[in-house]
Amino acid sequence: MTARPLPGGPVADRVLTDVTARARALRARGVAPSLATILVGDDDASAGYIRIKQRQAAGLGIDSPHAHLPPDTTQDQLVGVIRGFNDDPAVHGLLIQYPIPRHLDYDAALAELDPAMDVDGMHPVNMGRLAVGLPGPLPCTPAGIEELLAYHEIPIAGREVVILGRGATLGRPLAMLLAQKRPTADAAVTVVHTGVPDWERYTRRAEILIAAAGVPGIIQPHHVRPGATVVGGGVRYKGRRLLPDVDESCAEVAGAITPRVGGVGPTTVAMLFRNVVAAADRAR
Ligand SMILES: NC(=O)c1ccc[n+]([C@@H]2O[C@H](COP(=O)([O-])OP(=O)(O)OC[C@H]3O[C@@H](n4cnc5c(N)ncnc54)[C@H](OP(=O)(O)O)[C@@H]3O)[C@@H](O)[C@H]2O)c1
Repeated sequence: MTARPLPGGPVADRVLTDVTARARALRARGVAPSLATILVGDDDASAGYIRIKQRQAAGLGIDSPHAHLPPDTTQDQLVGVIRGFNDDPAVHGLLIQYPIPRHLDYDAALAELDPAMDVDGMHPVNMGRLAVGLPGPLPCTPAGIEELLAYHEIPIAGREVVILGRGATLGRPLAMLLAQKRPTADAAVTVVHTGVPDWERYTRRAEILIAAAGVPGIIQPHHVRPGATVVGGGVRYKGRRLLPDVDESCAEVAGAITPRVGGVGPTTVAMLFRNVVAAADRAR
């Protein structure tokens, strides 16, 4: 059996078509949606990610002011720049490009962000809102995975979902999201990690298995229930090469599977821009 592919590209296209229309409507009312970015240091890869986001933002009708700070920036200076963007009424979303130099405290910087402008959905206030089911910016990768499953009409309500990984970016918020009472969620969610050495006991019974570990090839065919849906969220980069958690041979066992490239990634970016227009709408 070869699994049905679940590409993220068409999912992202649908979301971004809506984002473009909302950005145009905002501009017609005199509001230019705006995503500010902060880069600290001279990491080439990070600078590249910012350029890609700026190019995409321009294509969607979203402004993208940017602050590039030197590698020896102090925490106080970084906080000053964050507060400057927080207080700028022309800015609706704010992103601190990760990673930042080691002498700086990322979590402390994130906590300085106005939660309403946290388009990554990672601010502790927004994580708290997610935990108690209040509306707010959702973390992009988890929201992208829910959108991807819904787009490809993978039933999820009432089904057994197992997530490998409990990290703050992916596994933990995804578990909260997919357990919410909503037609595209409402699942029986189990989270496994290094504290569960026999985690394959759980993944083998999952109707939907989501890899969120960041350990290349950790999911092999014998971890997958035949016919299950497999989503590869965890990735690691070796140079420019993307190494996914899910081994490609899992496609021989799964019923549906995200592709190695162009699966979850495009949906993450689309959710970021959805959060930007939502923030601009709220600010208006
Ligand atoms: N596709 C995208 O667009 C996108 C976006 C964001 C993040 N990601 C990827 O998502 C992944 C997770 O991100 P994160 O920040 O949430 O990660 P994280 O904080 O590093 O968490 C990784 C999780 O995986 C578990 N794990 C690691 N090795 C394991 C093993 N051998 N057996 C069982 N569990 C294991 C860890 O368990 P313990 O808690 O017990 O240590 C931890 O819970 C990363 O690969 C990241 O690159 C992808």
